[in-house]
Amino acid sequence: MGSPTSLAVATIFVALVMLYESNAQLNATFYGDTCPNASTIVRNAVQQALQSDSRIGASLIRLHFHDCFVNGCDASILLDRGGSITQSEKDAAPNTNSTRGFDVVDNIKAALERRRDSLTANQGGANTSIPSPVEGLSNIASKFSAVGLDTNDLVALSGAHTFGRAQCRVFVGRLYNFNGTGNPDPTINSSYLTTLQQTCPQNGDGTVLANLDPTTPDSFDNSYFTNLQNNQGLLQSDQELFSTTGASTVSIVNSFSSNQTAFFERFAQSMINMGNISPLTGTNGEIRSDCKKVNGG
Ligand code: HEM
Ligand SMILES: *[C@@H]1O[C@H](CO)[C@@H](O)[C@H](O)[C@H]1NC(C)=O
Ligand SMILES: *[C@@H]1O[C@H](CO)[C@@H](O)[C@H](O)[C@H]1NC(C)=O
Ligand SMILES: *[C@@H]1O[C@H](CO)[C@@H](O)[C@H](O)[C@H]1NC(C)=O
Ligand SMILES: *[C@@H]1O[C@H](CO)[C@@H](O)[C@H](O)[C@H]1NC(C)=O
Ligand SMILES: *[C@@H]1O[C@H](CO)[C@@H](O)[C@H](O)[C@H]1NC(C)=O
Ligand SMILES: *[C@@H]1O[C@H](CO)[C@@H](O)[C@H](O)[C@H]1NC(C)=O
Ligand SMILES: *[C@@H]1O[C@H](CO)[C@@H](O)[C@H](O)[C@H]1NC(C)=O
Repeated sequence: MGSPTSLAVATIFVALVMLYESNAQLNATFYGDTCPNASTIVRNAVQQALQSDSRIGASLIRLHFHDCFVNGCDASILLDRGGSITQSEKDAAPNTNSTRGFDVVDNIKAALERRRDSLTANQGGANTSIPSPVEGLSNIASKFSAVGLDTNDLVALSGAHTFGRAQCRVFVGRLYNFNGTGNPDPTINSSYLTTLQQTCPQNGDGTVLANLDPTTPDSFDNSYFTNLQNNQGLLQSDQELFSTTGASTVSIVNSFSSNQTAFFERFAQSMINMGNISPLTGTNGEIRSDCKKVNGG
């Protein structure tokens, strides 16, 4: 703890929660009035969690992404099934047995004044609006565009796959029978393919984990983009950013690979853009007393 990596992760998450939790205009100094120690509270909670789970920063950023793409950033993903919530987003295809970090969010939110929360969950929206790793770059770009995010946002935010893990089941198709061809995805680096086939045998346990960034698995850096240039993207959706002939994403990958500062600056901006998707304002929604339930529900 206190290592550069964990500090960087905690700092990113502080920035994230400041945006996520603050008022509709996402005024980063919002807590100046009501909760002067908000960033300290969040940083401590994340650093505490990191002590037992080096993956938690990654899991929390992904949770935020999956919340924001469905009815905006309204904490709808946190609602459990029960009462008026007959179908939870937690149980939607992209989230079930996959998203994690709910307990840490509960602890943080309990300590802070908050942005307004949804009264409903949208499981069908979660099934259709969250990108799948195998649906192809143009569909994914359309899903980003649908929430007001452009190609720069898509490439920068995909850079969150510089840390965290993915289960074999979400990429094993590329390793043996890509898109029904009976062969591996031809874009995978051959030595990386051998490694991944050892981690994920055909018809093996689909829940086994692999690092999204094989080079520096737990560091928030720009090696994700260098990996793509070396044909070492783990998910189909990752490698397509670099390997799709003529795509406008290719030059963005190259620029982030050659300039980490450019990546960090754009990532911060794109997290703000994502955090601004359809916040609940005025009297819409409510401030939940228990993150997992609507009030009185
Ligand atoms: C561009 C479209 C995207 C697709 C298709 C995609 C897909 C995935 C998939 C399939 C996993 C592995 C889940 C599992 O095996 O349980 C994953 C993990 C992850 N994703 Fe994405 N993702 C995308 C964009 C993003 C964005 C925008 C962010 C955040 C800014 C993000 C952050 C993460 C993180 C940090 C993990 C690792 C989570 C952990 O270790 O718990 N992803 N993603
Ligand atoms: C942000 O909030 C602070 C504290 O309430 C306030 O002084 C400041 O004017 C606000 N800034 C903007 C840009 O709204
Ligand atoms: C903020 O943190 C400081 C130093 O940790 C502490 O002395 C102070 O009591 C805290 N203030 C609030 C309002 O929690
Ligand atoms: C989730 O994982 C549990 C335990 O491994 C398993 O019993 C359940 O069938 C899985 N659910 C889905 C929808 O995959
Ligand atoms: C969402 O996907 C899950 C898992 O595939 C499925 O069980 C559920 O019925 C779907 N929900 C809706 C509302 O489409
Ligand atoms: C997968 O196959 C379909 C039709 O067989 C084709 O249209 C599509 O471009 C292929 N996708 C990839 C990523 O190769
Ligand atoms: C495969 O990855 C290695 C690094 O592990 C790299 O040196 C090599 O250039 C890559 N090959 C291709 C074709 O990208
Ligand atoms: C890297 O990107 C930053 C931020 O965009 C920029 O200020 C800097 O000039 C770039 N460095 C190089 C060597 O291009």
